[in-house]
Amino acid sequence: MILFKFISTGFLEPPEQRSSVLKSQKMIPQQYCYPSLFIYGHRSSGKSHVVNVLMKELELPHTTVSCVECISAALLFEQVLLSFFGCDAAAQLPRSPSISDFVRIYRQQSSQFPAKQTRFIVMEKAELLRDADANLLPALLRLQELVDDNVSVVLLSEIVWDKFRPNTGCFEPLLLHFPDYSKGELQQILSKDCHPSYSAEFYSSYINILLGVFYTVCRDLRELRHLAALNFSKFCEPVAAGKAKETETHKLWKNIEPHLKKAMQTVYLREVSSVISLSCKGLSAHTHVELPYYSKFLLIAAYLASYNPARTDKRFFLKHHGKIKKTNFLKKNEKTSNHLLGPKPFPLDRLLAIFYSVVDSRVAPTASIFSQISSLVTLQLLTLVSHDDQLDTPKYKCAVSLDFISAISRTVNFDIVKYLYDFL
Ligand SMILES: Nc1ncnc2c1ncn2[C@@H]1O[C@H](COP(=O)(O)OP(=O)(O)OP(=O)(O)O)[C@@H](O)[C@H]1O
Ligand SMILES: [Mg+2]
Repeated sequence: MILFKFISTGFLEPPEQRSSVLKSQKMIPQQYCYPSLFIYGHRSSGKSHVVNVLMKELELPHTTVSCVECISAALLFEQVLLSFFGCDAAAQLPRSPSISDFVRIYRQQSSQFPAKQTRFIVMEKAELLRDADANLLPALLRLQELVDDNVSVVLLSEIVWDKFRPNTGCFEPLLLHFPDYSKGELQQILSKDCHPSYSAEFYSSYINILLGVFYTVCRDLRELRHLAALNFSKFCEPVAAGKAKETETHKLWKNIEPHLKKAMQTVYLREVSSVISLSCKGLSAHTHVELPYYSKFLLIAAYLASYNPARTDKRFFLKHHGKIKKTNFLKKNEKTSNHLLGPKPFPLDRLLAIFYSVVDSRVAPTASIFSQISSLVTLQLLTLVSHDDQLDTPKYKCAVSLDFISAISRTVNFDIVKYLYDFL
């Protein structure tokens, strides 16, 4: 509850006031904390930073687990037991432990070493938990009850809870939104990086100029900090050369302006390149391409519909397709790769047929599929191809690359290459 009280009263305050709110909290450490907290907000909105500072300043027993690093649940269990109870506890885990193994060992240990105050498990990049074993997330959300210990799980995510919640239902965590930093808050935070050889006012006026140029195109604190460090030496040049005084803002502005404009072009380049590299890595870190679960399958279905000849659908997607001769299926003279020809348009019903076929073994789709299709069009991942003669049946084309769709497929454990005619 302390964490909640602090955040609910504290984090909307400008950074300087946050720590005073923090110190003014009356701590009742023995009290049980809410079983799970779900903290969400865009990239660089300070989720990790605020939680880390809180844990350290209040000296709360905690362990921070990165879901990127803990690629298996076993690693997660090991890290939690290790940091709360030591290596002997962690060593008790069997090979490929189940959640109940973890719960059993945790219970044993916590009955020997009961918590004097809440133990926190902070899960970074929690959105990756959606790709883990379906029981893991519901178990973490009510771990407190399962292990009968004063433990609380804090999930940090870029994705809102509504898109996160498993559709089988689960314990509802306490939700906390981290809004993006305002321009004023960014100014305060960035001004703290002030250079030792210059005054704080001088650095602050530099940040003011920098934000004036970049704020409209980039609000990412990490990116802005990088830009500030990159261009500061240029800003100081006239002062260092004795050509201007620290207070001659106008002169300094004239000098730095062309450099910042040039750097502006690389902001776009950097953003583009980071999108591309992420699309190969697994996408999860990028808000703009993070898709809801079913949309991922819709996009996969659209990709298959765009690159497979329609006549091969039966072979790929009908479970009991009877006898389809392999020679008929693989027409030897059909030499051209569909990938070289580019995506072909397909009608909506074909998309849905493939979609239900690839998604069926997992869960019955309940989400509103049509609105997700139009979102994919808005995101320009699908293109609507209009045909004058066929007003009633819309046709679509898939607009993403093989790398992109492979990365999407990996996040839902779908082996797309197995379903692509070109790669048979
Ligand atoms: N209030 C703050 N004061 C100083 N630095 C901050 C503050 N908030 C964030 N930062 C810095 O900005 C960077 C991004 O913040 P942070 O890592 O907390 O973002 P995040 O919300 O966890 O983002 P992501 O979703 O990418 O994990 C970090 O380097 C952090 O130290
Ligand atoms: Mg973070």
